[in-house]
Amino acid sequence: MAAIPEQEKAHHLRQLLQEASYAYYALDQPIMEDAVYDQLYRELATLEADYPDLITPDSPTQRVGERPASQFVSVTHGTPLYSLENAFSWSDMVAWRDRWQRYWRSNQGDLPEDRSYGCELKIDGAALALTYENGCLVRGATRGDGITGEDITSNVRTIRSIPLRLNLREPPPLLEIRGEAFLPLDVFHQINRDRQDQGDPLFANPRNATAGTLRQLDSQIVSQRQLDFFAYTLHGPKGFLLSLETQIQCLEALKQMGFRVNPHWQHCSTLEVIQAYYDRWQTDRLSLPYLTDGVVIKLNAMHLQEGLGFTQKFPRWAIAWKYEPEQAITQVLNISVNVGRTGALTPVAELKPVQLAGTTVARATLHNGDRLAQLDLHIGDTVVIHKAGEIIPEVLRVFPELRPQDACSFQLPDHCPECHEPVVQPKDEAVSRCINTDCPAIVRGAIVHWVSRDALDIDGMGEKLVRQLVVTGLVHTPADLYGLTLEELAGLERMGQKSAANVFNAIDRSRERPWSRVLYGLGIRHVGVVNAQLLSETFPSAPSLAQAEQGAIAQIHGIGPEIAQSVYQWFRIPRHQHLIQSLEKAGLTLATASPGLSQTPEIDPTLRGKTFVITGTLPTLSRDEAKNLIQNHGGNVSDSVSKKTNYLVVGEKAGSKLKKATTLGITCLNETELLEMLR
Ligand code: IVH
Repeated sequence: MAAIPEQEKAHHLRQLLQEASYAYYALDQPIMEDAVYDQLYRELATLEADYPDLITPDSPTQRVGERPASQFVSVTHGTPLYSLENAFSWSDMVAWRDRWQRYWRSNQGDLPEDRSYGCELKIDGAALALTYENGCLVRGATRGDGITGEDITSNVRTIRSIPLRLNLREPPPLLEIRGEAFLPLDVFHQINRDRQDQGDPLFANPRNATAGTLRQLDSQIVSQRQLDFFAYTLHGPKGFLLSLETQIQCLEALKQMGFRVNPHWQHCSTLEVIQAYYDRWQTDRLSLPYLTDGVVIKLNAMHLQEGLGFTQKFPRWAIAWKYEPEQAITQVLNISVNVGRTGALTPVAELKPVQLAGTTVARATLHNGDRLAQLDLHIGDTVVIHKAGEIIPEVLRVFPELRPQDACSFQLPDHCPECHEPVVQPKDEAVSRCINTDCPAIVRGAIVHWVSRDALDIDGMGEKLVRQLVVTGLVHTPADLYGLTLEELAGLERMGQKSAANVFNAIDRSRERPWSRVLYGLGIRHVGVVNAQLLSETFPSAPSLAQAEQGAIAQIHGIGPEIAQSVYQWFRIPRHQHLIQSLEKAGLTLATASPGLSQTPEIDPTLRGKTFVITGTLPTLSRDEAKNLIQNHGGNVSDSVSKKTNYLVVGEKAGSKLKKATTLGITCLNETELLEMLR
């Protein structure tokens, strides 16, 4: 695809950024996440670096910091409020340590023995500078551009955790305390609920709500909003500060003076210890009642801080190690359509690969045609993608402003991309479906499901082999697997004699799987592992279930009318009746050994009362299958790791849950270990 002219792209980016800044600073109504703003900003900066002629004086890249708004009186900070350099990885941290040590050696000589760090949580709020004269609060100011901020004293006075008088017997004539104002999450949610009731636009996040609240002209409103404050540094006369030799002593002194200090600081001797602190808070921060977006690492010894000083923008003695944002911007290169086992057509955005919350993302779901139409997504569009927790990434937002001229719109096809038969969209569903039972995608999906672990568990038969068997016409239904000869298997491309024999034997062994698993393997809509088990307990054979009335099926505890209808209708279809007959002929187990008793022996009393959490993508089981399997064996499955968790089942790309479980000493299992445990 041809790139849009750079000039036009720069113009659109500038416009977007200006709109976003205006919405953020002037209206206190942000229209995009900060991470998204940063990425667009970087894109513009890169473009301008490549084409300096494109730079205009009003470009956001030409502005240093944000100007204070006009309603409040401007104040010049005694000492600038520096920002912090950001680190995003271990190697950034190593580079920072090497850098400060090099600087120290060339300016101060040998490194001192105590090179430890004071680590704190990075509170996601707004920085405040508080001036105390003779122990009395006389001024509270926002950070502004770091040099000049706004005097918001009357608003600051409403914050209960900011003392109006310091708890000091002999307060110095002038003392400045700095820290972070923030809104606790419950207060933030309440504010947004109230705003929704009143029809006011919502705050995008607590940080924006904090900044917006601090700049409210009516202190009454500020007072109702229950802002909070954590203090983290103090600036004052040398004599006064002399007794404070370390960062941690400063925090303790601040607490003594009457400030709230975040209690989760830690003294760390090395980068390795910092890494463990960072990792721990990556998960634990999720249970805090306020938001944090990283950890701040400061050299603990004050004499080191003084000796290192500041660059133009940052202290050399501190750095913020940020947690990855969960949104990113990228471009849609194509839109493909995936046809699932049930025939559902899912549009998928093929993306220019982008890093997001620790993984490279190249595809994002668009869910269905309705969602696609709602987004008005074109191929070539710049989009925001989002990955909350471990869910499959999805496209959240489209920037039509950045749409290239040759971008093409996309509509879900009205014919199946696999079999080219017309698709249908049931009235009450958002999903379009291919209903051709001979569609190769549906046939493949049915076989892949049949051979899966929870179903017939045929070892060595992956998606690739299933595709080969379907393409070559050897297999059309699960029953066909049982008619395959060793020669036919060995004759397949890239299949050795030994592998063919293994697969052949695995197919043969699957004849012994109990009726409940055969039932699950049939892939009847709404019949997962648990429902198959329940159904097989009441209807211990295929004929008994096939003949059952819908009402009788719905009588089973745990089986609702929707499931009953689905099962009942499945057995009314001649093709399905024929499949059951063929399976019987092929020697599959279609009844439990003693009527009335389930043949599935796996109910394992040792799992009773055990709580499992699943994280990441398991090699063969879907999340639901793993969940059903555990529940079917008497265990509980929970969504979040806590002290009550007994086992964490870990798949690929495990996220924060793994870190939390490791910290809590919880036993981790991979899929094989889980299955072994269940057997
Ligand atoms: S120290 C010179 N400590 O993060 C030292 N800052 O990205 C400056 N922040 O502007 C700051 N929690 O608003 C420090 N424990 C913490 C912090 C913290 C949040 C904010 C602060 C600063 C921004 C830099």
